[in-house]
Order: sequence, then structure tokens, then C-alpha cells
Amino acid sequence: MFHLGWFLGDSTGIHKWNGTWASSNGKDWTKPDIYIDLATSLERGGFDLMFIEDTAMIEDTYGGTMEATLKYGMMAPKNDPMPYIPLLAQATRHLGLVGTVSTIQYPPYLAARQAVTLDHLTGGRSGINVVTSVTHRVAQNFGYDQHLAHAERYAMADEWMQVVSALWESWDPDAVLLDYDEPRYADYTKVHPINFEGRYFKCRGPLNTIPGPQRRPVVAQAGNSTPGRELAAAHADVILALCKNPDEMKALRQDMDERLVKHGRKPQDLKILFMTIPVVAETDADARELVSREEAARTSNDAIASRLWYLSYTSGGTIDYSKYDLDGPVPQEIGVGETTTSKAWLENSAGMTLRELATGPFNYGMDFVGSFDTVAEQMGEAMEIAGPNSGFLVYKPVTRKDIIDITDGLCPALRKRGLIRSSYEHKTFRENLMAF
Ligand SMILES: Cc1cc2nc3c(=O)[nH]c(=O)nc-3n(C[C@H](O)[C@H](O)[C@H](O)COP(=O)(O)O)c2cc1C
Repeated sequence: MFHLGWFLGDSTGIHKWNGTWASSNGKDWTKPDIYIDLATSLERGGFDLMFIEDTAMIEDTYGGTMEATLKYGMMAPKNDPMPYIPLLAQATRHLGLVGTVSTIQYPPYLAARQAVTLDHLTGGRSGINVVTSVTHRVAQNFGYDQHLAHAERYAMADEWMQVVSALWESWDPDAVLLDYDEPRYADYTKVHPINFEGRYFKCRGPLNTIPGPQRRPVVAQAGNSTPGRELAAAHADVILALCKNPDEMKALRQDMDERLVKHGRKPQDLKILFMTIPVVAETDADARELVSREEAARTSNDAIASRLWYLSYTSGGTIDYSKYDLDGPVPQEIGVGETTTSKAWLENSAGMTLRELATGPFNYGMDFVGSFDTVAEQMGEAMEIAGPNSGFLVYKPVTRKDIIDITDGLCPALRKRGLIRSSYEHKTFRENLMAF
């Protein structure tokens, strides 16, 4: 069996807001309803988790202005995802809810306390996705003149995780006594200051709330560069991965297994979720027809601008792709932002024109196209090669049609083959995630 996660790539922000199936997203994205529909559907489908992206900026790398960002609704506007988590938890019983926290945005004490509070409110279903943030515009909203260099972001994130982990351990498991007769609520000798002093953070501790049902909320990490992999091997329970074929999946799994062992951990301690944007329909021909329509739509000026916008963003704000001739060669710099994503997008682009790249396949993880049964079969085969302790992270537009295609079309086909769970055996997110 493998795990399933849903990547809410535009967070609690504006999603597909015009065109077929967008429904009232343009008006209603600020309300909880679409996310509640999504969460309840994911649980019906047997998903382990919903993973909520976050970035706190209005970008202006592409074209040097916010025009395209706000014309198309590119990663903005966006609400803070964290307040949605208890609402989603109220509507579901088993789904893990992972909110993104940036290590330049949240002081570790605030993040540790918020995650534990959410763990209490969700009955043991909270998680954090630890990111280092991508562009200068985010950094500039949190007191920096410029974002830090890539290596330093990760050095800071490692220290950040050390503080957060120490705070989560600052109450011994038996510190709370709840002795009504004496009376004594907690044993103060079992609650410990952490007195952390590092290069980036200083924190006394202890945490001022008691451990939640999971004690340690689930930790996810999403960069696949070498320092990103090291951060995951040291601290994470889940890593989100961009791999284009089963061999790459297998190679990443093996690489992470070796890193985990070096950190004194076991391969089963870290699940890898491989990104995929599956195109599914009732028949193979219907799915291919959807792909043909997507291919045709990619050639419009708006679609090209949107794609170049993403390339500019993932470069970390260092490359403005609007400046290059569309019919000239693709610039080969990777930039300093989401280097894994930029590399995936630029792979094999030498010799292509920028227009060819911008109108080509989106290239974001594993490609699956076909009927529900065909794709279920292919997913099973890919996972056979990748090996255990893994799963897929499904990324689709947030429309009710796209949601049910997956949860009520693909998921039953996967379940019929015994590839995904048919129930949740445990109470907490962590236990369900670690069950296989
Ligand atoms: C699948 C995926 C999801 C990500 N989600 C976020 C996010 O929600 N917010 C954010 O600031 N960065 C996000 N990132 C960025 C990374 O977490 C990381 O900080 C950055 O990409 C640098 O990593 P790399 O050079 O190791 O790829 C994401 C990256 C990937 C690949």
C-alpha cells in the first residue's frame, strides 16, 4: 500500500477562478466551504493528508511589477492557512492537516506553540511543512533587506528545527499529574527550560502548553536540494518530492534511506510523497482528449505569461523571464529559490526556445494519463519500483470536478487493487502515516 496526500498548491488563496468548473471560486475563495468540501472528499477517498502551501507576498519578479500576479491571481491573494485548520478538523475525523511555516517568518517558539495548539484542537492531526521561503519579497515582509543565501537558509532551518523539537520535548510525558486531592496540576520538576543559544535563535523555554495527542506534530519538508534532503533526514516525517519517472523515485528513496541511517533513523521513519498531476477520466480516450485540450490552451499569451511567471518566482526573484525573447534560447541559470523545481523545469531545455518551454508540459512530478483504472495500475507499478515507505502527492486545480475525479474516480480504482487504505486504523495522523 502507499500513502496519498493532496497538495493545496495555492493554499487558502484564490484558486482557478474563471473558466469551466471554476464555479464561485472567484467570489468565495475566502470562505471555508470549498476547503471543507475538499477535506471531506479526501477522507472519503482514503487520503492521509492535506498539505497546505503558504507564501506571504505579492510577487513582482515577472515584468518587475505586480501586474501579472494580480491579473491572473498568481499565488496571491491568499489568506493565512492556519486558522482554516481547526475548521477542516471539525468537518473530518481522520485526515492529517499540514500547514506551511517558513523558518524566516515564524520565530520557533511561536511555531512550536501553534503546532501543539493545533494538535490539541484537531485531536492529534496537525503537521507543519517547514520551508525556507523562496523570494526576496517574502523576506522583506519579515524584516530582511534581501533573502539569505540558499545555504544559509538551510543552516537557519536546521537550527530552527532544533529549537522547535526541544520545545516539544520540554514537558516530560508524565509532567501533568492532575492530582485533584493535593491539589497539584503538574510536577514543575518535569517541565524543563531549553536554554537554547545558537547562531540564529535564542530561546529559553519551556513551552507554555502541555504536549498534544501526537506529542510531536508531523513534520514535512519540501526541497530536494542536498541541504533540503539533509534537513528532511534529520527532522522530517515526510518529504515532498519532484521525480519524473520510477527510476528517479527509486534513486531518491535510496538516497534518503542512506541519509536517514547516517542520522540514526530508519527508512520507515520518513515517508516520501511524490508529486503528480494525474489526468484522469472515464476512458483512456477521454483522458487523452483532456490532455489535447490542455496542450492547445497552453499556447495563449495569458498561459505563456503565467508559465514564465512561475519560472521567475521559482528562480527566487533573480530572473525576470519577461525580459527574454520568446523565440530565443532558454536562459540556463537555475537561480537561488526553489532550485529543485527550477531544475525540473529547465531540464533538457538547452536548444529549446523560451516559447517551446513555456508551451510545453508543466513537468511537475510524475505524469499519469488515462482512465481511472489505467492510472491506478500505472501508479501501482511506479510504486513497486520506488519501494516502500512512499506515496503520491496529488496536485490538481481546486474545483469540485477535479476533486471528485480523484476521490470518487481514481481512489476507488486504487482501493480495488489494494493500493491505498480502506480505513484509518489509528487515532492520530502520525500513527496512520507510520502504519505502513
Ligand atoms: C512540492 C514543494 C512544495 C513547496 N511548498 C512551499 C511552500 O508552501 N512555501 C514556501 O515558501 N516554499 C515552498 N517550497 C519551497 C521549499 O520548501 C524550499 O524552501 C525551497 O524550494 C528551496 O529548496 P530547494 O532548493 O531544496 O529545492 C516548496 C517546494 C516544493 C518542491
